[in-house]
Amino acid sequence: MATLENILGRAKKDIISANDLTSLDLTRVKYLGKKGELSALLKELGKLPPEERPSQGALINEQKKELVELLEVRKLEIRARVEEDKEKSEFIDITLPGIGSSTGALHPISQVLNRIENFFSSIGFSVVEGPEIEDDYHNFEALNIPKHHPARAMHDTFYFNKELLLRTHTSPVQVRVMEEQKPPIKIICPGRVYRVDQPDPSHLPMFHQVEGLVVDTNVTFADLKGMIIQFLRAFFEKEGLEIRFRPSYFPFTEPSAEVDVSCVNCDGKGCRVCSHTGWLEVMGSGMVHPRVLEYAGINSEEYTGLAFGMGPDRLAMLRYNISDLRYYLDNDLRFLDQFR
Ligand code: PHE
Repeated sequence: MATLENILGRAKKDIISANDLTSLDLTRVKYLGKKGELSALLKELGKLPPEERPSQGALINEQKKELVELLEVRKLEIRARVEEDKEKSEFIDITLPGIGSSTGALHPISQVLNRIENFFSSIGFSVVEGPEIEDDYHNFEALNIPKHHPARAMHDTFYFNKELLLRTHTSPVQVRVMEEQKPPIKIICPGRVYRVDQPDPSHLPMFHQVEGLVVDTNVTFADLKGMIIQFLRAFFEKEGLEIRFRPSYFPFTEPSAEVDVSCVNCDGKGCRVCSHTGWLEVMGSGMVHPRVLEYAGINSEEYTGLAFGMGPDRLAMLRYNISDLRYYLDNDLRFLDQFR
């Protein structure tokens, strides 16, 4: 009897402390299995005096039934807990804010180039590109800048050798287009240009230009002025933006003019951005020099042309109030994120 009580006590404890179905089943086998402790006890009934066997047998069987019931109850408990754990771990709180995905955006220079291209496309220009590695002929000679011309000194050129160089402006694309295409010509040429320069807030050895060229019969300086005024007012989104054409000199245009806009920072009153002049220089322009037309095989008696060249890096600087050109190349996301 003492053994029976002892076995029961341990069995109950084991059942309660079983925390998963596997250990619960091991407990069942330990006590109720074929070779379990309770089964062993039943087998020993034979050793008892015959008159004690029935009552002792009944007692053991009763206890066995109780253990079976306890095991069943514990099994249900464990199952319920496992189910609950599963629900907890799989719970999705749909009221939590989502994880935003971060997308890329166009570089401010690309955005400005797109704006420029969109404007000129809308008034009938096509967009043309040319090589960044140019020859001396297209970058200088055919633009009426012969060797030893003082204008070459203004272009601090990266030379590969006597003939090949990194283009210092996009004007050679004018020459390439005129060589290949008969007028009427109406193109803009966006692209990178290079000049030997130490990087500082207002200089980079690589920057951008957008060249414009129109060649046709009866193209006049009035066309040039009208087009540029329209463009600049659209670009800066300022209807009354003041624009002036200041006489200047380029070997490949005659007459030539530099284009200034009233300072977009101070409205022409004078500030640091415009060096207290009230004006900002934004473009070079002029009527294509007859000699440049002739070089490219276009009859300068029949056709005239207008040309202009602007710097998108500087235009973007003015439009977005950027204080240092080098930000364009740093790839600092704190800078770039402002242009999404
Ligand atoms: N190519 C000139 C420059 O780089 C700009 C320009 C283009 C001027 C077309 C007149 C006409 O400074």
